[in-house]
Amino acid sequence: MKIGIDKIAFYAPSYYISLEDLANARGIDPNKYLIGLGQRNTAIIESNQDVVTLAANAAIQIIAEEDLQKIDLVLFASESSIDESKAAGLYLKPILKLKSQCRIVELKQACYSSAIALQFALNHVQMYRESKVLILASDIAKYGTQTAGEPTQGAGAVAMLISQDPKIMEIHQNASYISEDVNDFFRPTNHAVPIVDGKLSTETYLRFFQTVYNEYTEKTKMEYDAICFHMPFAKLGYKALTSATQDENLLNRYSISKYYNQDIGNIYTGSLFLSLISLLENDLTLKSNDTIGFFAYGSGATGEFFSGRLQENYQQYLNKENHEKIVQTRHQLTISQYESLYNQQQQFQNVHQNVFVLENIENGIRTYKKV
Ligand code: CAA
Repeated sequence: MKIGIDKIAFYAPSYYISLEDLANARGIDPNKYLIGLGQRNTAIIESNQDVVTLAANAAIQIIAEEDLQKIDLVLFASESSIDESKAAGLYLKPILKLKSQCRIVELKQACYSSAIALQFALNHVQMYRESKVLILASDIAKYGTQTAGEPTQGAGAVAMLISQDPKIMEIHQNASYISEDVNDFFRPTNHAVPIVDGKLSTETYLRFFQTVYNEYTEKTKMEYDAICFHMPFAKLGYKALTSATQDENLLNRYSISKYYNQDIGNIYTGSLFLSLISLLENDLTLKSNDTIGFFAYGSGATGEFFSGRLQENYQQYLNKENHEKIVQTRHQLTISQYESLYNQQQQFQNVHQNVFVLENIENGIRTYKKV
């Protein structure tokens, strides 16, 4: 039985800043961000949006009435938790009209938890063949203004529906993985921003990639038509790829797989799958049965390599028009507007149409509405 990604979509905030503007404001050569990190713009989260609305606005693009009857497991992957106890996915129950006979949990291991969500979903559908699993990977990447991490911020969510006979991609049920106790990036409880050792984080990312890529490729003898990466910034995935291969097709397809990521920034748990969406919606040479490799990484740290196979006519089931609209209708902020939004001196509301927004927080309870 084939199991994998039946539908996939992303959502990103309605504001962004240009990294060229940010570099100029910080007195840094813009090429450090544009070439050195490989990024162009960064999404800026609105005052009335959180990880729940980001996830909801991704999910509404893919969930149909017939899916609602079959979704009995919701896995919410995030490292931008809004509650120490309640899973953020429970707020989605009324918003998405999910059925009550459904398990809803939140998963955490930095940016990696969306990859383990996928593995859990494969096992679930293997056991309950008629079930569908909704995976939400939703995050807000904040490091603080005037920090080294500032050009690698971002926000957004990816929603995926996992089922048997998937329309987009079968995911192979084997993987290579590694975990070690590394203090490269972590956010202790009550810290608004992470504690980051940037150099250690990039070294660990590259070391873990080489370990799991080599092990997986040796074990499976797999040949890849493209490889998607967790992409905190576009240059890092490129460094990982070129440490393994100089294959021209793989390098070209890497350039396509960073298409949305370069303009939205790091979306943590959703980043790997945002790069998959970038690739599938913008590469005109991939075809059914092509094999895609995936490298997932979460600081702290866990790395995993796995793969999938594109399905017949997968192109018909993508959401390119919606996604382009989300990115193209964003409003650009000046750096001083971004700073006053970041420091909560000024409010900026979501300017996208037909989206869910955060209405209120009272006694810790969040309420949402559609605008
Ligand atoms: N023109 C062109 N390139 C330039 C340049 C210029 N004028 N000036 C500098 N550069 C290049 C540098 O040579 C460097 O490239 P190489 O690494 O290829 O040599 C690149 O720009 C970045 O320069 P620095 O390393 O000096 O940058 P930095 O120390 O200021 O910080 C960073 C970079 C570590 C990524 C920092 O932004 C950061 O800490 N970000 C957050 C952590 C992060 O994203 N880590 C990634 C791995 S962890 C992970 O994957 C989990 C996750 O999502 C967070």
